[in-house]
Amino acid sequence: MKMHLITLLGFSCIALTGNALAEEDAQFAVGQAKAKVCMTCHGEDGISTLDPYPNLRGQKMGYLISSLKDYKARERSSGLAILMQQQADALSDQDIEDVSYFFSKLGQKPQQ
Ligand code: HEC
Repeated sequence: MKMHLITLLGFSCIALTGNALAEEDAQFAVGQAKAKVCMTCHGEDGISTLDPYPNLRGQKMGYLISSLKDYKARERSSGLAILMQQQADALSDQDIEDVSYFFSKLGQKPQQ
């Protein structure tokens, strides 16, 4: 009986981890699709080719989210921020989560 319980627990753990991973990969793909416009300035691999444009590859998700919200709320307005304010205006809260997830994970998986 005890063995069965342990086996059962083991299986459900694997199933749960599998689901979580599938969901994360789905968010990566959704974020990647939504980030197409961002890549024109920040680079397809999250490394920009122009000096005033920051790299986003592997940046912390929380920092990406707070930056995008700051641009949207006009809390960041110096220098070239006006470019980003327009970009951020077009993003919903869900878009911000998805693109931030994508850029934060970029470079952390062996295939990218
Ligand atoms: C027209 C070019 C352009 C496009 C398109 C663009 N960005 Fe930017 N982005 C910039 C520039 C320039 C800055 C630096 C602005 C500043 O000085 O605050 C920046 C800054 C940022 C930052 C802050 C980075 C940091 O290290 O503080 C984030 C996050 C960001 N962009 C995300 C995005 C996302 C997500 C998209 C797509 C929805 C996007 N950008 C599209 C030009 C662009």
